[in-house]
Amino acid sequence: MTIEKHVPSHKVSFPQQQCYASDSVLVIQQSLGLQGQTELVGAKNAVLVIMASLILTEGISVLKNVPYSDDVIQMMQLLQDLGADVCYKPELHELTVDTRLLCRHKVKPAIMKKMRASILVMGPLLARFSKANIALPGGCIIGSRPIDLHIKNFEKMGVSLHVEGEFLTAEVKKLQPQYLVLDYPSVGATENLLMAAVAVPGTTHIVNAALEPEVMDLISVLIKMGASIIIKPPATLEIHGTRQLYPIEHQVMYDRLEAGSLLLAAAVTGGSIDVPQAHWKSLDVFLLKLEQMGHYIERGPDGYGVRFIATDDPKAVSFVTGPYPGFPTDLQAPMMVAQCLASGKSIIHETVFENRLLHVRELQKMGAQITLEGDRAYITSVDELYGANVISSDIRASCALVVAGLAAKGTTVMSGIQHWRRGYEALEKKLMSLGARISLETADKIS
Ligand code: EPZ
Repeated sequence: MTIEKHVPSHKVSFPQQQCYASDSVLVIQQSLGLQGQTELVGAKNAVLVIMASLILTEGISVLKNVPYSDDVIQMMQLLQDLGADVCYKPELHELTVDTRLLCRHKVKPAIMKKMRASILVMGPLLARFSKANIALPGGCIIGSRPIDLHIKNFEKMGVSLHVEGEFLTAEVKKLQPQYLVLDYPSVGATENLLMAAVAVPGTTHIVNAALEPEVMDLISVLIKMGASIIIKPPATLEIHGTRQLYPIEHQVMYDRLEAGSLLLAAAVTGGSIDVPQAHWKSLDVFLLKLEQMGHYIERGPDGYGVRFIATDDPKAVSFVTGPYPGFPTDLQAPMMVAQCLASGKSIIHETVFENRLLHVRELQKMGAQITLEGDRAYITSVDELYGANVISSDIRASCALVVAGLAAKGTTVMSGIQHWRRGYEALEKKLMSLGARISLETADKIS
């Protein structure tokens, strides 16, 4: 894999996003009144699956707006391990992938363990090689993250799967077009099955499909490749498979979750920011909740651009997370911080993942008044939070703790920043440009 900072004529090993010590921490000081204009990077949850979809083609594809975050680096590594030639230009956020020499169908366990989204290569590998060997992705801190919806629907398409220890081997003589019904609109299962179905001659239906904006970005890529996909209300994908899919050029959608995180940083610090690349139409419920809190939101033309001005007297609001277009589970954690500091009581009900409230205990260390009952958090507002040493448990929890640190009195030191690095491209620098006092330090420097 090549990283073209200059123009090397040879493959280089791929360094992590930044050479940061494993014991690095983020040090966040209270930073009231964030303000200014900021850019967005490409969406992690779109680019990972789009990179996997390139396995369906034989040729050179170019992706633009590819964020330089650790999960994306892992997916680059995975594609290279399968035999693809991968070249990334960080300064352009541009990724070129040549899949003509892609020849392997086994994913290294180490990569599967590091990044759950590796499961998304299963559908494309089955379509291309009629087999796939992957390590079971295993659960993570926010839940057991089962893949039963993937497996039972691949079996319906004729795939025989068997698990040996932590390894899942999948083989199929010939993928069959099918009428598939998902018990739950799983994003990953929709994407995996869709990427298999587009290469299977005949008509496949996926009923109760996930239609998150990131899934729609994948659909736009597959259609560019030559696939025929019709979306039938309320949420059925009708796929007319074709044997030949072609390499593409595509600009990955901007990250609506990064946009939401930046707005929440402004909300809790009483700031005002402009995010011209924010696709507000993919954040409708989230923005509605911010307006219900009393914040001012101006929406730009053609669905893009958000001007945000925080109210100085935010009201707490309750919300429940759910599949799109419901409130996005990936913004639940940082939105909880805003409720802790808004006046009144609120209830947050997390329905997507069974264990996605681990940030609560860290926020309690900062003075938040939250009680948990099952998958509900009962919040009573406080006048202020105060800085503490906190530990991030997952990508979105790390965002919540940074947002809390920006509002809290004093200094917050967040460890576990590998999660932050997995999900965001140097978001701390973007926050700094808006006036945040935040820096990446090695732990020994702050003790
Ligand atoms: C994707 O995860 C995203 N990840 C998640 O973002 C996001 O939170 C989630 O969709 C929901 O929007 C990527 O796109 C890489 P699911 P995914 O399948 O596909 C259960 C982040 O922080 N389920 O929609 O794994 C599952 O356990 C990450 O960026 C089954 O039971 O989500 C969960 O409770 C976190 N069986 C629920 O469905 C299955 O076979 C939703 O999962 C599959 C899923």
